[in-house]
Amino acid sequence: MSSKVTIVDHPLVQHKLTLMRSVDTPSTQFRQMLREISLLLGFEALKSLELTTKTIQTPLAEMEAPVLKGKKLVFVSILRAGNGLLDGMLDLVPSARVGHIGLYRDPETLEAVQYYLKLPDDVGNRKVVAVDPMLATANSSIAAIGRLKEAGATDIVFVCLLAAPEGIDAFSRAHPDVPIITAAIDSHLNDHGYIVPGLGDAGDRLYGTK
Ligand code: PRP
Ligand code: URA
Repeated sequence: MSSKVTIVDHPLVQHKLTLMRSVDTPSTQFRQMLREISLLLGFEALKSLELTTKTIQTPLAEMEAPVLKGKKLVFVSILRAGNGLLDGMLDLVPSARVGHIGLYRDPETLEAVQYYLKLPDDVGNRKVVAVDPMLATANSSIAAIGRLKEAGATDIVFVCLLAAPEGIDAFSRAHPDVPIITAAIDSHLNDHGYIVPGLGDAGDRLYGTK
């Protein structure tokens, strides 16, 4: 079994992603584009939410209208670049709970180093949408999903912006039950574990730290 991978090839996503990739795009625009793209990725991630109906009155007639059945949600941001996707997700579902997993990649070993973890207590009863723009070696996302499973989560989807084929393979082997939603799969990783052609360091580009 391997993870189901969905590429969101909506023209608006692809256009905005191209703007984000360009080295000339400043942080303000990069942040804005990521927030906008996250809405469309969020629609895809949440398209299996169950519906029920309720009786409402329109100006013309009574009808049985669809409403969300109400499975509880939690968005989990893999810090820090995950916050760039989180903001748009919260625009979609403002009532969702939010968890944070702080991880950074050791620049030498590329291993994920955890520095923070805060999740809602009842994560096991919730649909979990874990977000991080970049799936490169997958060390960070594999570790983050591991923490979520240790906390009891069983219904998890991982949403990213860009993925490398190597990362998708590794993630699929580690967490075959967790679907991946991405806007694009790029060519390969370079010797420093960066996605090529990619967009550079997502956190630095979001927050202007380099
Ligand atoms: C980036 C990115 C992912 C990770 C992906 O985070 O946001 O978390 O790298 O790489 P991987 O798949 O090889 O693990 P980074 O470590 O740069 O931390 P930051 O978000 O704090 O900038
Ligand atoms: N992390 C990033 O931010 N960018 C990459 O290309 C790889 C890991």
